[in-house]
Amino acid sequence: MCGIVGFVGKQEAAPILLDGLARLEYRGYDSAGIAVYSPQDGLRVVKAKGRLQNLAEKTNGGADVHGCIGIGHTRWATHGEPSDVNAHPQLSESGRFAVIHNGIIENYAEIKEFLQEQGVTFVSQTDTEVVAQLLDHYYKDDMLDAVVKVLHRIEGAYAFGIVCEDCPDRLIAARKDSPLIIGYGEDFNFLASDVTAVIKHTREVSYLDDGDIAVLTASGVAIYDSLLQRQDKARHQVDWEVSAAEKGGYEHFMAKEIMEQPEAFRKTISPRIQEGAVVLDGLCFDRETLERMDKLYIIACGSSYHVGMVAKYTLEKLLRKNVEVSLASEFRYCDPIVTERTLCIVISQSGETIDTLAALREAKRLGARVLSIVNVVGSTIARESDDVLYTWAGPEIAVATTKAYSTQLSVVYLIGLYFARILGTVNGGEYAAILTELQALPEKMEQVLAQKETIQYYASRYFNHESIFFIGRNVDYAVGMEGSLKLKEISYIHSEAYAAGELKHGTISLIEPGALVVALAGHTPLFEKLMSNVVEVKSRGADVLGVTVASRGAAMEKAVDGALIIPDTLPMLLPSLEVLPMQLFAYYVALMRGCDIDKPRNLAKSVTVE
Ligand code: F6R
Repeated sequence: MCGIVGFVGKQEAAPILLDGLARLEYRGYDSAGIAVYSPQDGLRVVKAKGRLQNLAEKTNGGADVHGCIGIGHTRWATHGEPSDVNAHPQLSESGRFAVIHNGIIENYAEIKEFLQEQGVTFVSQTDTEVVAQLLDHYYKDDMLDAVVKVLHRIEGAYAFGIVCEDCPDRLIAARKDSPLIIGYGEDFNFLASDVTAVIKHTREVSYLDDGDIAVLTASGVAIYDSLLQRQDKARHQVDWEVSAAEKGGYEHFMAKEIMEQPEAFRKTISPRIQEGAVVLDGLCFDRETLERMDKLYIIACGSSYHVGMVAKYTLEKLLRKNVEVSLASEFRYCDPIVTERTLCIVISQSGETIDTLAALREAKRLGARVLSIVNVVGSTIARESDDVLYTWAGPEIAVATTKAYSTQLSVVYLIGLYFARILGTVNGGEYAAILTELQALPEKMEQVLAQKETIQYYASRYFNHESIFFIGRNVDYAVGMEGSLKLKEISYIHSEAYAAGELKHGTISLIEPGALVVALAGHTPLFEKLMSNVVEVKSRGADVLGVTVASRGAAMEKAVDGALIIPDTLPMLLPSLEVLPMQLFAYYVALMRGCDIDKPRNLAKSVTVE
């Protein structure tokens, strides 16, 4: 939520800031702004409600704003509606300080009242303006001293970029619970929410930790901890190409990322399968440790939670251990039964989702060992976990996740096989069969994606529906949850997913002539049961779009109004194939409804506020 970028160097800052914001726009896109300092113009702030394009037009692509130091922000509104005045940067009353912020200042109301009593006038409804005004309040002649005093006074989550007219050679960055990186260059330095904003200019980055404060000038970066002790921060090389975060000829990032899934899946599993066995480098679990674990607790949000739903079926089957799945936003408020005998598996694409991070910290506080499945290298969740397995999906830019979901699933399968072998809960034959089929999945995924025109056709038939139901059993149900989420988030069609057996307990009353039901029936052991549910909804007038595997294709085609047939696979691995038509269906429906697919309304990628 919210993207921040800061630049100090020898070139004009504004075009660089706008380019960085364009790459961060997926984090928030209701307004944007920049503040740039030059000796001639002082600190100049330009802000615009709406998409970044409006800001680009207002500044002539940045060419009308001069200066070699500045900060920029693209916003996902929390406090105060999207508007020019609530957009960041927020200025202090004196105009000396400009602040960009990602996060929420929880005690802002109390500080605002205090400052108002001192005669300070506020112009915005944001919590961030409080920070700018408080900087003025504490400022004597030392910018860093004022920042430290502010950080001591505020509560909440933040990643800040701060510029001060009196110290025009430096930016100050600070973080707590919101991501912030430093990008290092020759004669320039960056601060940013993530590496996508800086990758065009530098591949050398550091990840700030909570409590860190960084002072950036064109010639260097000094990083301090909260006690102002100098930190020697590790520098990392980003190993992906700029093009990975560009559309590469596709109309939308989502379309590109859907099509990238077979390759991303391959990249994630291949190095981890050696000589017929799963090898998870860096993981040290022996039989005794695993046997001591009496429970696996999976924690995640949104689509990552849906991967967790699949993981419950997979891991319980392979490991014969109790697996619980919890929404991260519920976990820490439900007094979870977690002990040092619990293994928590935390799943997150961004590695920054605030609820997931907070749940991870709670699990660790309760004594659990935490293994995370994360896409963004160096993210907070990755760094705070005891063990991490990265998904090698590359940057995911579309707000609606696709390739992260698929690669998370692939890591779940790997973990299941890896632990099962240590525990001896699957025999050699089964193990080899699952592994062989796992390796065959990318090719089968390609076969499913090759049916995109058929899926587009079904989308053209149903895109005008106002309500769509997804039904399934076992892993089909978990995929239905994901299919329904994809559809509602990008097409704005109301949609629900149900365990098919639950229909008769209430939901079937919603089925009336013309209702569309997407029936997921790839899980062959339950195919007949699911088909009974299909008959029930059809007799109440529903149109049914059925999805199943080739061996059940003929039976499905006879029973439904439209059928999508995917290759057979092991029921356990089915979600990796079955989710693909769900993603494509949502994509084409949204396209036909004229929706802003990569940036759906009210959403943002990387939910860093609670
Ligand atoms: C849906 C989607 C979200 C994320 C959720 C968790 O398409 O992208 O539901 O899955 O916000 O995000 P991460 O995985 O980054 O923790």
